[in-house]
Amino acid sequence: MPARLLIEGGVPLKGEVAVSAAKNAALPAMAASLLTARPLTLGNVPELGDVRTMLKLLQTLGARVERQGRGTTLTVERVTSDVAPYDLVSTMRASVLVLGPLVARHGSARVALPGGCAIGVRPIDQHLKGLARLGAEIAIENGYVVARASRLKGARIATDMVTVTGTENLMMAAALAEGVTVIENAAREPEVGDLAALLTTMGARIGGIGTGRIEIEGVPELGGALHRIVPDRIEAGTLLVAGAITRGDVRVTDVVPGHLAAVLAKLEECGVMVETGATWVRARAEGRPRPADVMTSPFPGFPTDMQAQLMTLLGLADGQSTVTETIFENRFMHAAELARMGASIATDGAIAIVRGVEAYQGAPVMASDLRASAALVLAGLAARGRTEVSRIYHLDRGYEKLERKLGALGARVERRP
Ligand code: EPU
Repeated sequence: MPARLLIEGGVPLKGEVAVSAAKNAALPAMAASLLTARPLTLGNVPELGDVRTMLKLLQTLGARVERQGRGTTLTVERVTSDVAPYDLVSTMRASVLVLGPLVARHGSARVALPGGCAIGVRPIDQHLKGLARLGAEIAIENGYVVARASRLKGARIATDMVTVTGTENLMMAAALAEGVTVIENAAREPEVGDLAALLTTMGARIGGIGTGRIEIEGVPELGGALHRIVPDRIEAGTLLVAGAITRGDVRVTDVVPGHLAAVLAKLEECGVMVETGATWVRARAEGRPRPADVMTSPFPGFPTDMQAQLMTLLGLADGQSTVTETIFENRFMHAAELARMGASIATDGAIAIVRGVEAYQGAPVMASDLRASAALVLAGLAARGRTEVSRIYHLDRGYEKLERKLGALGARVERRP
């Protein structure tokens, strides 16, 4: 049987916990190693399923990987293969992040089309349209994107919607293109900013980071770099909700509080007492949360990656809340599992109406994707009795030792093989 988590609920979590580096910044940073023959050292790579998948993929493309503690050095002296195979891409969609760097440096890439996943259809048409604007020839052959270019040329690209990995892919490709590229409607997520900071250390010329208009002046070659990845704002948010939902008192450290602004504002609206310092945030709660309405949107809006966790908190509120998911069309899989624990949630398309209940009851539940599994763990921590969350390989893709961190805060949680 795949690993499960057993949780005895009802313990108010208390204490301090350090947040790991962001998964969604680590993955593009690792892919950036394909842009240079020089070593790229990342000082704090988190131990995650998705990180292991990305390492494996980069190794198949020619990367040499040296790990020393948390430090990971990636060196791609030569790209030895331009194929991102289906078995890797289908386990992790972020594999598509190798497309831009491969075309830019190597002149060709063959990347399996990821297809749909548990939270939505998730096409990559904007990545492809953008690369075509930069002069790549793109074809779809036998389920693979085949992209070719001699040298990419800077261009003005306007994406139809805000896309995080799309912006990252195009930024990496443009960094080695000839001339200036402008990406309009660019993602403003801190993880995009972190990648830009890394590329800048490697010698790229990038302006407009944190705005919707990024300008990149291509250079013929990039060098190596030493880089620390930004803290994981989603892990931080999840741990703060763990404090609030158990009516405890949790302080997360090693964070950038500004990256959590929308989440903290919503927690305060729910009656959670929030305090922030330069690199820490504390959340305390007494009694039931207040209901609140929330709508996900690109940064600096409320992140879709915190929607399931917040819904779990709202499920215990003293009244009715509305949750609107605008980024992914199928990201309410946790609602049905939460219902098994006593939640009262009705979903209709992009909207969930959450009628708060007084308590959750422990139950066996099944994780469907990464953030849904975090939501079930949170519900288990608050529930009366024992919860068993199965299929936690989803959780392990994106949370580093979550049960240990929760355990250190007093949670009764155990991993079973
Ligand atoms: N979209 C398109 N065409 C494209 C690209 C995106 O239609 O070419 C649509 C998507 O289907 C979605 C929306 O645009 O409806 C936004 O998707 P985006 O491209 O921003 O998502 P992503 O880059 O694939 C990253 C994170 C996700 C996070 C989203 C949204 C990484 C590796 N993944 O995905 O993280 O939910 O941005 O913020 O950065 C997670 O960590 O649990 C996770 C799913």
